[in-house]
Amino acid sequence: MADAAGHITARGVIAREVGKPGQVEEFTIDPPGPGEALVRILASGVCHTDLSVQNGVFGGDFFPVLLGHEGAGIVERVGEGVTNVKEGDYVILAWRAPCGECRFCLAGKLHLCAASLNAEKRMRTMDGITLQPVLGIGTFCTHTLVHSKQCVPVDESLPPEQMSLIGCGVMTGVGAALYSAKVEPGSSVAVFGCGGVGDSVIMGAKLAGATTIIAVDIDPKKLEWAKGFGATHLVNAREGDPVARIKELTGGFGVNYSFEAVGRPETTEQAIFCRDLAGTCTIIGVAGPTSTMKELPLGRFFDLGGALRVSWYGDCLPTRDFPLLATWYQHGKLDLDTVVTRIISLDEAQEGFHAMERGETLRSVIRL
Ligand SMILES: NC(=O)c1ccc[n+]([C@@H]2O[C@H](COP(=O)([O-])OP(=O)(O)OC[C@H]3O[C@@H](n4cnc5c(N)ncnc54)[C@H](O)[C@@H]3O)[C@@H](O)[C@H]2O)c1
Ligand SMILES: [Zn+2]
Ligand SMILES: [Zn+2]
Repeated sequence: MADAAGHITARGVIAREVGKPGQVEEFTIDPPGPGEALVRILASGVCHTDLSVQNGVFGGDFFPVLLGHEGAGIVERVGEGVTNVKEGDYVILAWRAPCGECRFCLAGKLHLCAASLNAEKRMRTMDGITLQPVLGIGTFCTHTLVHSKQCVPVDESLPPEQMSLIGCGVMTGVGAALYSAKVEPGSSVAVFGCGGVGDSVIMGAKLAGATTIIAVDIDPKKLEWAKGFGATHLVNAREGDPVARIKELTGGFGVNYSFEAVGRPETTEQAIFCRDLAGTCTIIGVAGPTSTMKELPLGRFFDLGGALRVSWYGDCLPTRDFPLLATWYQHGKLDLDTVVTRIISLDEAQEGFHAMERGETLRSVIRL
């Protein structure tokens, strides 16, 4: 709903305080400024990062927060000077949009942009407090305001629930395999944590031609799902040391590529030490600012060689990769239908978090 001056009244899930479940509230959005776009959300995935934000894992400075950062929708209005999208475009929202001007962009490394574009803070609670949207987007809502460069158009025949997932979890996982780790054909891979992100790593590793893909989780149901996405071996970490089991499955050597998609110190350590010589370990899970790994035996670490790296957003370039992943979905190469485990309403966002904690879903998707 817009008033005469073009202010919109929207509805969204707002977390007011650290650790308190966010509730659906009305909030206001100013008309889009230069370079900005107002987007009507059609679908939003529920990513673990939203729950971490609500729980204060990233600190308490972000409240009140408009939750959600994995969304697809329709551009409803654009501000002055916007040329990359227009009213009516069907888009996936990106939480990174390269500025083109920072030291990384100038060096041609746009995926590392240090000044990613966001809209100005123009969304406020009804009592006038400026909202902080998660990762500069905010998608558990009817409408949101973003930088126009955060809008990436895709084929409008594709379903919004599946497309929304490309906005974070699926892109992160597939990109971590293809771009961060650069998995090679014929290689071996281990993935710790088979949620929406980990299963997308598995899909990415399969696309890259890995021939051994070991899924590690503590939940048998997650492991069954992982098999459907292309895992060749399943390891339940509750039933013994997963590193020893991975070694057993790889002729005693370990894997060429390991991925941590849980966000815990113990799985990070396991991901580091389940590698073969010169293997690459890629950290995707967000452990949070206070988490520490008690010990890193440097001798063992050195002797293994290889690389330890962090993957933000799968080192993707949304304008290149969102349409690519959408096309792979269309061609049946990415099974996003199975990742969309449950469709819920805006009022059920907290239920989406609980279902994730109980291990019942890969992704709940809020349909608006
Ligand atoms: N780096 C990035 O850019 C980026 C992007 C998106 C999400 N993330 C992070 O990735 C992580 C995964 O996100 P998700 O949405 O897939 O979460 P999720 O909750 O759906 O999945 C996590 C999985 O880890 C499993 N798990 C828990 N403890 C385990 C253990 N000890 N050993 C093995 N498996 C274990 C759970 O059973 C679950 O299947 C989160 O930390 C999230 O914040 C990072
Ligand atoms: Zn930049
Ligand atoms: Zn996410």
